[in-house]
Amino acid sequence: MKKYSYLLLLAAAISCKNKPATENAGSFSITEKAFGKLDTSAITEYTISNPSGMQVSIINYGGTVTKLITKDKAGKDGDVVLGYDSLSGFLQKGNPYFGALIGRYGNRIAKAKFSLDGKEYKLAVNNGANTLHGGLKGYDKVVWTATKLPGDSSLQLVYHSKDGEEGYPGNVDVTVVYSLSSANELKIDYKAKTDKATPINLTNHCYFNLSAGADSTINNHELMILAAQYTPVDTSLIPLGKILDVKGTPMDFTVPKLVGKDLDSVQGGYDHNWVLTRTGKGLEKIATVYHAASGRLMEVYTTEPGIQFYSGNFLDGTLTNTKGGAKYVKHAALCLETQHFPDSPNEPSFPSTILKPGETYTHTTVYKFGVK
Ligand code: BGC
Repeated sequence: MKKYSYLLLLAAAISCKNKPATENAGSFSITEKAFGKLDTSAITEYTISNPSGMQVSIINYGGTVTKLITKDKAGKDGDVVLGYDSLSGFLQKGNPYFGALIGRYGNRIAKAKFSLDGKEYKLAVNNGANTLHGGLKGYDKVVWTATKLPGDSSLQLVYHSKDGEEGYPGNVDVTVVYSLSSANELKIDYKAKTDKATPINLTNHCYFNLSAGADSTINNHELMILAAQYTPVDTSLIPLGKILDVKGTPMDFTVPKLVGKDLDSVQGGYDHNWVLTRTGKGLEKIATVYHAASGRLMEVYTTEPGIQFYSGNFLDGTLTNTKGGAKYVKHAALCLETQHFPDSPNEPSFPSTILKPGETYTHTTVYKFGVK
């Protein structure tokens, strides 16, 4: 009997193997498509599909997520991230980091400088007097080396960031692995090593709209952030160094709330770091986003201590080459950037972002999709 079922299994495996890949529903796959050229580098779009048809597309320019296809409650596929139809879209001036990997330091460092071990480092200025998302040419604007990993569910991206790049000390080797699971999770694993002490704060900058194009804003998305506190900022979005309680303020998302509910009472919209309520250092669920009309639900898990919730305040409908010519208006999408706190190199009371030689920076974030 045992032998008989083994033979049946073997026969099924062989017949599945002989079918063309497209008929192999129920398996993982990674396909490749030319996505243009940048100087001499070929830009390729890799699409990972999981057995239930969820797909993520990633290009080696900026390690950028270009598409994220998930099902709604009726089983209909939709793309839940903002982006462009072509590479020229991503290269346009003012592309607000759609889907990109962010480094060496996500978010702002005040006055584009910090001191470390008695030495002052001056960084590239690209946001008022400050540095934002790694400087003029951050990790979002470089070409990464992409490798499909065995198993057809993960894409590895590697980048060598040189000593002095954008003003940061130390040669840094960064590895990011995007994986899809059969449970509809997009997992991002970050690792980095350095040869000199340096600040590091890596994240991803996907702009989510779970309506997949049906709603022009995220005002009707219900958000929960597991955080009792946040870091208030000055008018240039630099943390004041204080940590405040969210209770009784528009910043309170401890109980799921529509993003639009208190949006107008927050000067400029939401663009703050929340101090996550964690039980340890492992991967923990810290946020959920729910769009009732489509039924789509996204859960966010991370190992990081903070999350920047940005409500797309600077989108103004002027970006070109957008997907299907969509107008990405103010609040068209939201970002949930898992990370350490902004300006940590200048705020000794914040958790340290300094990576030293011999240490390994690690960070894992999972965006899990479902419907309810
Ligand atoms: C920042 C915003 C910024 C946006 C870039 C976010 O992480 O907090 O202030 O405008 O990235 O598009």
